[in-house]
Amino acid sequence: RKTSLILVFISAWLMLGCGGPQSTLDPAGRGAEQITELFWWSVAVNLLIWLFVIGLAVYATWAQPGGHRHRKANLLIIGGGAVFPTLVLTVYLIYGLALLPGLLAPAPEGSLQIAVLGEQWWWRVRYHPQGGEPVELANEIRLPVGKPVDLFLASPDVIHSLWIPSLTGKMDMIPGRVNRLTLEATKTGVYRGICAEYCGSAHALMKFDVVVMEPDAFAAWLEHQAQPASMPQRAEARGRELFLIHGCSACHTVRGTPAEGKVGPDLTHVGSRVSLGAGILPNEPAAFLRWIAHTEAVKPGVHMPAFGMLPRKDLQALAVFLEGLE
Ligand code: CUA
Repeated sequence: RKTSLILVFISAWLMLGCGGPQSTLDPAGRGAEQITELFWWSVAVNLLIWLFVIGLAVYATWAQPGGHRHRKANLLIIGGGAVFPTLVLTVYLIYGLALLPGLLAPAPEGSLQIAVLGEQWWWRVRYHPQGGEPVELANEIRLPVGKPVDLFLASPDVIHSLWIPSLTGKMDMIPGRVNRLTLEATKTGVYRGICAEYCGSAHALMKFDVVVMEPDAFAAWLEHQAQPASMPQRAEARGRELFLIHGCSACHTVRGTPAEGKVGPDLTHVGSRVSLGAGILPNEPAAFLRWIAHTEAVKPGVHMPAFGMLPRKDLQALAVFLEGLE
């Protein structure tokens, strides 16, 4: 009993740490709010059943065989050990199922649509604005606060699973089919998304940032993302030249330059993103340099070859050029 009490206190204390940018228990979206509610109901219901059943077990130990208390104990064990949990869990199941239609309903007609593809081991993100051209970026999803959004999820290689714990539940990305996930962010901020299905050596390094913005700021951001890259300043011109010479353009697109590769992430505005390498490095020149020179060390199994053989000043020029793509 003492040990159980200590365990309950320890878990309650650990749960104080359930905040931050990647926690369902600190919700910033409609789906996560419902999941959190369901979770706390589940804790309460389970605690109730546990207390009842343990109470009965203690009572049964205390009752004498053959006595008046013994018959009462038998009745209580059937009632409290089987009937009571069945009733409580049935009510809880009905309550949980009733939440499903709300969680699965698509966003209203005319809502923002975003296609997200899980790749090994990064995220291709394509906005389909109403009446506009699609806009592609990578490893970052920005959303307007208070607006339902439909994500269309797919994968060209293996099964991945998109999970933004602060906003809603997870959804698989399966080759050959498109799954829809509707979400609505309720608080501005920067949240973390992860891949929730084992998909190869760098599965644990497949993350992304979700930035929830005020609708006006979001519209301005999307309009900017649709633009081609700005003309490089003098400091960035050498890096741009190296980017094209060393064949980076075979895999990467930088709109507004001859780089039109489709294999890797679109880098048109990579300097404006929260992080690099699918959520694993800060977005700064030193991290760009480390990534380009040592891709394999930073993310084992990554498809991009390391360019550590380039002279350091070339690597620096490339980093400055990429950081300048804001
Ligand atoms: Cu993608 Cu795990």
